[in-house]
Amino acid sequence: MTWDIERIKAEVTADAASAGSLDALEAVRLKYLGKKGLVPEMYAGLGSASAEEKRAIGKGANDIKVLTETLVVERKAVLALSVKRVDAFDVSIPGVCRGVGTKHLIDQTIDEICDVFECMGFVIQRGPEIESEFYNFSALNIPLDHPSRDSFDTFYLDAKDPDAIGRHLLLRSHTSPGQVRVMQKHNPPMAVIIPGKVYRPDAVDASHSFMFHQIEGLLVNKNVTFADLKGLLTAFCKKYFGYDVKMRFRPHFFPFTEPSAEVDIQSNIFKGRAGKWLEILGCGMVHPKVFEAAGYQGQEHSGFAFGMGVERIAMLKHGIGDIRTFVENDVRFLKQF
Ligand code: DAH
Repeated sequence: MTWDIERIKAEVTADAASAGSLDALEAVRLKYLGKKGLVPEMYAGLGSASAEEKRAIGKGANDIKVLTETLVVERKAVLALSVKRVDAFDVSIPGVCRGVGTKHLIDQTIDEICDVFECMGFVIQRGPEIESEFYNFSALNIPLDHPSRDSFDTFYLDAKDPDAIGRHLLLRSHTSPGQVRVMQKHNPPMAVIIPGKVYRPDAVDASHSFMFHQIEGLLVNKNVTFADLKGLLTAFCKKYFGYDVKMRFRPHFFPFTEPSAEVDIQSNIFKGRAGKWLEILGCGMVHPKVFEAAGYQGQEHSGFAFGMGVERIAMLKHGIGDIRTFVENDVRFLKQF
């Protein structure tokens, strides 16, 4: 029997090229290489062939075998690619929903509070989280080795203060140092709001954390009085906590303000706390020593300052019982806000 090797090669090539699926391709492979395929049939007929025919048919069968194997592998790759492509554009397959994130509740609270003050003409400023003892304490009339420093327990860094011999840098324990930095840069009149992170080495529990956020306010002008401070904070509390909020200014001590007060409020929005006075901020008239440290000369300026804890306000407003939930990154908590 004689075989037209070139014609068979052309057939294999055409068959492989027209195989439209993996099953069809397997059928092509079997047609040539399967037990009952063409190549085994060629070998089977070798017994009765002459030596010259044997050589020609053997070589031809081997060529067809190699060609079939090569074409099957190549066609498989093409089919696999096109299968993937079909998948990618199959609009009937349901998509995977990744979910949309939201702003963290602490950032939302900072934005909301700052918005209220911005509407009243305040400008947002920021100060560094790594501070010197000068800005965190001395400039705020908290002298070195004075007991009032104890209430601002502080993380000291293993880094020397380049501006003060023998002193170390620290993580700011409140946002008040921002007051001095702003006054050093700008002349009055000014009204600024300074949000940011603060750090204290407190043992962590439901209401304490070693890192939390504060918002500081400072207004300096001529003839600013405590009545202005009361008016501004009353306007803020009504806008932020509701117009029926009740407020009281309770005398207090802060080294950087004189006189000083703490503000307590009662608000209907605090779930389960109806009728309770809740402290929300500290405030007072800027102490002359602070003006002096900031480089303001003379007596012509007066001003007030205030500071509030963001976590505390968010916890009161949303009925959150544990400050740790803010940093645990539990999506079930975060996605509620
Ligand atoms: N810095 C104070 C604290 O961390 C809060 C504070 C109180 C800020 C009175 C002020 C202020 O600006 O006038 O406890």
